[in-house]
Amino acid sequence: MAEPMQTDDPVASAAAGQPKQKQKVDRLTEGRDAPWVEKYRPKTLDDVAAHKEIIDTIKKLTHENRLPHLLLYGPPGTGKTSTILAVARQIYGGAMQNMTLELNASDDRGIDVVREQIQDFASTRSVFSNKFKLVILDECDAMTRDAQFALRRVIEKYTRNTRFCLICNYVSKIIPALQSRCTRFRFPPLDEGHVRDRLQHVVDAEKVKLGPGGMDALVTLGGGDMRRTLNILQSCHMACDVVDEKGVYLTTGNPLPSDIESVVNWLLNEEFTAAFQSITKLQIDRGVALVDIVRELHPWMFNIAALPPKVRITLVEKLADIEHRLAYGCSEQLQLGALVAAFSLVRDDIVAAAQ
Ligand SMILES: Nc1ncnc2c1ncn2[C@@H]1O[C@H](COP(=O)(O)OP(=O)(O)OP(=O)(O)O)[C@@H](O)[C@H]1O
Ligand SMILES: [Mg+2]
Repeated sequence: MAEPMQTDDPVASAAAGQPKQKQKVDRLTEGRDAPWVEKYRPKTLDDVAAHKEIIDTIKKLTHENRLPHLLLYGPPGTGKTSTILAVARQIYGGAMQNMTLELNASDDRGIDVVREQIQDFASTRSVFSNKFKLVILDECDAMTRDAQFALRRVIEKYTRNTRFCLICNYVSKIIPALQSRCTRFRFPPLDEGHVRDRLQHVVDAEKVKLGPGGMDALVTLGGGDMRRTLNILQSCHMACDVVDEKGVYLTTGNPLPSDIESVVNWLLNEEFTAAFQSITKLQIDRGVALVDIVRELHPWMFNIAALPPKVRITLVEKLADIEHRLAYGCSEQLQLGALVAAFSLVRDDIVAAAQ
């Protein structure tokens, strides 16, 4: 089991050889220095923020002991692993460790593991309980195709006493035959309201001092990924006394919205050399990479109402090219030149359209 288990049942934990480990686990996941993503990992299904319909459905199915094979998919940090661990905790309580087999990307999951470890676990029936066992295959988009093919038969063969829960980011990497054996639930990025509520909960519990714009910046940079949001909050809390907008952007090395506004102004209004130098200075002062500036410029291309459609299209295309070249490791300076040049070239068209 990769996931540290918290159990309230001393008998079960003693049976599983737990007492010595418990202190260690607590310090790692509950202590003052623990990563907040683990410390505030939802323990029960009620703690999982958002995804209300999914949680309600899963709750109902577990309550009636009718849990089907599950396939949970969606972007990182949206609560997939937390949800299934909460389900396992709810079904088995202290006996969770004996009744679940959790394999994730850090375990080998080639065809041999499917044939041996998974099959061994799934095939043995639990003597003292009429509950089914649970096999959690986390990050299973990294499983080889051969292993996935082998899993098809195993899932069917042991359905009587075992349920499988497959978790992945990219559902397209799971073979259709496995998909059709499972009930699929998509975990979309968390919406802003839920991220705010959850953040506020952690902010209150950890007594973080939030400054103006801090919460908004965390929500924006987190992009609906609760893990990323909590990690940013924790690193900002360690880096600055007050977590405000500037602190969040600077700690994460992202350009401030006001910086991007200046860049847009320089690009549209200044001469080539002056714009080039101003942006270079800003990059040095703030320590931001060109690729971050290009990424943040992209939404601006849709927000500036004065841009004629043709110019907008040209600029968006050029931004995409520059980002592509930067990703391939081309020189930042030359690409900055290309960025300034792209705007210089369309300037006449913008003026003509305005007249
Ligand atoms: N819906 C949620 N409600 C509350 N906290 C959440 C939620 N989703 C994620 N978190 C926080 O983010 C952390 C990571 O969540 P989790 O491991 O469940 O993500 P995941 O969907 O499995 O991501 P990945 O695809 O990267 O494995 C949790 O420990 C928790 O702190
Ligand atoms: Mg996960």
